[in-house]
Amino acid sequence: MSAKNNFYITTPIYYVNDRPHIGHAYTTILADVLARFHRAMGDDVLFLTGLDEHGQKVQQAAQQRGLEPRAHCDELAVRFTDLWKKLGISNDDFIRTTQPRHVQVVQAILQKVYDNGDIYQNEYEGLYSVAEERFITEKEAESGQFRDVRRIKEKNWFFRMSRYQARLVEAIEQNPGLIRPEHRRNEMLGFLRQPLGDLCISRPKSRLSWGIEIPFDRDYVTYVWFDALINYISAPGYLADDEAFSRRWPATVHLIGKDILTTHCVYWTTMLFSLGLPLPATVFAHGWWLSGESKMSKSLGNVVDPLDLIEQHGVDALRYYLMSEMILGQDSSFTVDNFVKRYNSDLANDLGNLLNRVSGLLSRYFDSTVPEPGELTPAEQPIAQAGAVLGGRVAALLQEFKVDNALNEIMNLVRSVNKYMEQQAPWKLAKEDKAAAGRVLYTAAEALRLSLVLLSAVMPTKSAAALEVLGASDSGLDWGGLKPGTRLQAHPPLFPRIETEKK
Ligand code: MSP
Repeated sequence: MSAKNNFYITTPIYYVNDRPHIGHAYTTILADVLARFHRAMGDDVLFLTGLDEHGQKVQQAAQQRGLEPRAHCDELAVRFTDLWKKLGISNDDFIRTTQPRHVQVVQAILQKVYDNGDIYQNEYEGLYSVAEERFITEKEAESGQFRDVRRIKEKNWFFRMSRYQARLVEAIEQNPGLIRPEHRRNEMLGFLRQPLGDLCISRPKSRLSWGIEIPFDRDYVTYVWFDALINYISAPGYLADDEAFSRRWPATVHLIGKDILTTHCVYWTTMLFSLGLPLPATVFAHGWWLSGESKMSKSLGNVVDPLDLIEQHGVDALRYYLMSEMILGQDSSFTVDNFVKRYNSDLANDLGNLLNRVSGLLSRYFDSTVPEPGELTPAEQPIAQAGAVLGGRVAALLQEFKVDNALNEIMNLVRSVNKYMEQQAPWKLAKEDKAAAGRVLYTAAEALRLSLVLLSAVMPTKSAAALEVLGASDSGLDWGGLKPGTRLQAHPPLFPRIETEKK
């Protein structure tokens, strides 16, 4: 058994009713960044993503394409896995809810919860929103926010969610880290001030056939959310119930968008209570990417396709933009203008420029070889100090899901090194005092190296390329990792400026 820390991170499993867009890409990249960072810190990482393939939305999407649901899912699944490959997503597992390994677990859990007495049958009459796939209240129907509303009377199976309300409130109150950020936690505590109803977890086959059959009543399939949430435990092997599973569960973090807060914080947690399993350490809900000022939606025709951006500017630039632009827990506006601005200022000007300068000057004055650092003077000290503590600061910020702040810390070091270079002017020093020029260039190159090591989780390809230029692939986070005498590799500019006319 290894002594490494378990870091089990999940994304929502996405509906296969359409092609993936920038919102799906965002959550998956965010999870990837955290997974890569934790792997680099030596944690034992399980990074899970996948697809939610059952339910009405998927069945309808398949019908519209004139395909059987399974054939439709198989076709669309490839679009997701292809995109994840292009985006450099390093998931360890990929779950599809139609896989037997998942179906088995869902059925076993239904049986177990039924045997516990937490599932009962009842006749229910109410308003049902086909678009939202759930029963809604009269008040919700009046709000006009729900499409395809019908009055339905039918027998269904219900999960006794209400039984666990008090326990859930207590768990949220006692554990401030369970739901993050804090305003989402408050939102859930507010929601739980009203009495919690039970959850309808079945759909009669007469109305919906595309789902997991309920093992104790074959006329029904399982409600898609009850099915989908279970992926988080079916993937790491709930049924085996062995050491491997207990090592993984509870998950370290479920990353989700704010749109699916209630399903994760109320449905899922009460399901876990009923199963006698511990709650995940954290459910973290991020905000929405808007298209300019408005919500991205297929009907508005303003959905941003990540593939276009990758083709034009490369995957690392897109990953960097998404990670640096969204502030923890808030909505952000996606515009190509912002993207170009951010790219040109941070990647072309600050980072790219530093690499070009350092490697250019070393080539001109030091035969492309890393010089001796010499004795640090007061001019280098702040940089060496900032460099030495940067890894710890970035780790602490990522622990808090402050990815934008972590990137800013790294870029602040890069910017201060650019300033230091201006002040020290090693191109002048090289003619008067070669050792001093070597010291300045070593300091700049070493700070750049450290920055690149820390940027690797966000920009794996470009960081690796730049580290190769410096002859410092696989170097660590201690100051002094760059070895004097190492030869630099020639390279084309890693982040060529985007000329705005071209955009
Ligand atoms: N299938 C459910 C999730 C089940 S999890 C057990 C689902 N799927 S979804 O395809 O609609 O994906 C929703 C998730 O995609 C959001 O929670 C969020 O992570 C991501 N995003 C989709 N659009 C988004 C934006 N415009 N902005 C940011 N993320 C969004 O819900």
